[in-house]
Amino acid sequence: MKAYVDDDLCIGCGTCPEVCPEVFHMTDDGIAHAINTDIPEDVLGNAKEACDSCPVDAIDIDD
Ligand code: F3S
Repeated sequence: MKAYVDDDLCIGCGTCPEVCPEVFHMTDDGIAHAINTDIPEDVLGNAKEACDSCPVDAIDIDD
């Protein structure tokens, strides 16, 4: 599974890298980006929690 951040929606609240730093990080422009590779199995739960925690629904997780 992979994670995607819609950079048009992200308001840079910083929650996703806080909840799952293995998958999400903040870029210099203040927007979150997700890793390009598959989400490691051991952090999948955290990645989904980050997705659910995003206040503007900017994160998608799918195959
Ligand atoms: Fe942006 Fe949502 Fe993460 S607003 S910083 S994608 S929690």
